[in-house]
Amino acid sequence: MPRKPLIAANWKMYKTPAQAQEFFKHFLPLVANHTRDEIVVCPSFTSISVALAAATGSGVAIGAQNMHFADEGAYTGETSPLMLKAIGATHVILGHSERRQYFAETDEFINKKLKAALHHQLIPIVCVGELLAEREAGKTSDILCRQTRGCLAGITAGVSASEAAPIVIAYEPVWAIGTGKTATPQMACEAHAVIRGEVAKLLGKETADNLRILYGGSVKPENSTALMAESEIDGALVGGASLDPQSFAKIVNY
Ligand code: PGA
Repeated sequence: MPRKPLIAANWKMYKTPAQAQEFFKHFLPLVANHTRDEIVVCPSFTSISVALAAATGSGVAIGAQNMHFADEGAYTGETSPLMLKAIGATHVILGHSERRQYFAETDEFINKKLKAALHHQLIPIVCVGELLAEREAGKTSDILCRQTRGCLAGITAGVSASEAAPIVIAYEPVWAIGTGKTATPQMACEAHAVIRGEVAKLLGKETADNLRILYGGSVKPENSTALMAESEIDGALVGGASLDPQSFAKIVNY
């Protein structure tokens, strides 16, 4: 079965609930009846409810940008998978490089969140990607394999292909995020093939063949068509260019 592309918006720490509502007012008519791709918007926690209400009946799914792995507990400032499920969120971005860089998230921690997301039937979008210095030192493949192994640890044993099926991986080279520098389609394809190969070793060929790997890092209307033309690229995780309804709709309609 061909992999259904997923185009996800990562709004980061932008937009109040009123601004989120305004976005959907303009965005939804531009993607009405769009069924080729799965579309997901991930606002900050305070705008998720408003986004869910605005997107009801539209086919656009709403996700979170992060979550804790525990169902509940004394974790001040955190949000649990149960809470996300309860309001109707369906996806969650895990291990974004900004979480790794500014909030010290490790592969081990991301792995716990991934298991919690699967347990609660949230679709996890797990981010991996190398730093510029790592690419320049020829370490890209090593980093991608290490992060993939770390994030998927323990999923290997005893998890059937169908249980692992919801997992989405986003390849986001850190040097391309918010910088305007995009990986070429060829660079992205090479990285995706490395990740898919590692997933095949861990979870088997069938799961790897069905795994959606998104590209993220300065995706814009100007480059989305070329990226999405590659069969190895199963979608996009879009930051800056997803904040504007016209621009995100152009990306979705690549
Ligand atoms: P960008 O961000 O599109 O602004 O580069 C992508 C991301 O961080 O997910």
